Amino acid sequence: MKFSKRMDGLDSAIFSVLDDKKRELYDKGMEVINLSVGTPDMPPASHILKTLSQEAGKAANYIYALSELPELIDAVIAWYSRRYGVELLKDEVLSMSGSQDGLTHIALTLADPGDLVMVPDPGYPIFSVGPSLSCAILYKIPLLKENSFLMDFDKIAPDIAHQTRLIIVSYPNNPVTAIAPPEFYEKLVWFAKKYDIAVVHDNAYSELVYDGNRGGSFLSIPGAKEVGIEFNSLSKSYNIPGCRISFALGNKDMIKQLKTLKSHIDYGVFLPVQKAAIAALTGPQDCVVETVATYQRRRDVLIDSFQKIGWSIPKNPGTMFVWAPIPDNYSSSVEFTLDLMEKTGVIVVPGSSFGERGEGYVRLALVQPEDKIIKASRLINQSGIFK
Ligand SMILES: Cc1ncc(COP(=O)(O)O)c(C=O)c1O
Repeated sequence: MKFSKRMDGLDSAIFSVLDDKKRELYDKGMEVINLSVGTPDMPPASHILKTLSQEAGKAANYIYALSELPELIDAVIAWYSRRYGVELLKDEVLSMSGSQDGLTHIALTLADPGDLVMVPDPGYPIFSVGPSLSCAILYKIPLLKENSFLMDFDKIAPDIAHQTRLIIVSYPNNPVTAIAPPEFYEKLVWFAKKYDIAVVHDNAYSELVYDGNRGGSFLSIPGAKEVGIEFNSLSKSYNIPGCRISFALGNKDMIKQLKTLKSHIDYGVFLPVQKAAIAALTGPQDCVVETVATYQRRRDVLIDSFQKIGWSIPKNPGTMFVWAPIPDNYSSSVEFTLDLMEKTGVIVVPGSSFGERGEGYVRLALVQPEDKIIKASRLINQSGIFK
């Protein structure tokens, strides 16, 4: 059977190698500490679970949803006003079955084959995969340590900017964990206006910001709504990644086009999931505070215990990840990842799987309890990798 060339671009050779290695470790009976997956291990709050299960028990909720419940739109508008000081109108809100859905489809609404789409490098894979499926050409903007992992718009040639239809930006950033100051977003709005580029800001980790800081919204920047939209997901903030729901918010023309496209692809978010989202957004928010505190504690334990065994890692200001430099004596992040797995059973993600500029790093997810993190540091110490 012949498959499309498009599928060649989805080849993830490194993940099959890691999967094979993982299976090998399990077969050997080795204990595995998996710090690779970005799936929260914490449960959703009980009021969210209760709403979802009650609503799932009602036969009337099994129709095609087609669009958002009016109460859901109201809840989202109130959430953005309360949490970010951003006022939204009803036609500036669209629900999606996760931001992954929006990121897969957004370039179809903005870019014709051959148009440029700017994405970060390193970057969360769907930022590149989505536009590539739309046959857009990727222009990768390096996120460099020396620039605090922020995109540097001054380094982009005007002729490249003129050919660009869409830029995908995301802070707090997966995988590099950086957060961006308001001045960065002001420059982004300026850049987008100057070259007539649509902006998508993926705010998947809006709540996962540490050390007393709070995440914000791109839409709170003057002029942002004129140039772009924000995706905000409930997956990480409320520990419901499998209960698929997130929102596209902001520029109403972009929302309208995305809504039209999606009306041909899906029939809306399952009504019990919409009700669960209403419960999450309008209910008590201490579950979010608790989640943030747990990730921060795990981060501190990881950074301290790894520091003691000779692996010095900068403290991540946001997200549920740490972005760790690999030791000098390894030639690549893949080589280091495989050696670490073999010698310790600790699984991480090689930085190069997020793009060329991710080389030299690995990403660790804070998805294990503190005792497991300490155990991981002990195993790494015993392996002698950092001696
Ligand atoms: C940066 C980023 N955006 C989007 C997503 C996916 O979010 P959702 O569950 O809403 O599809 C993730 C998930 O890991 C992510 O890291």
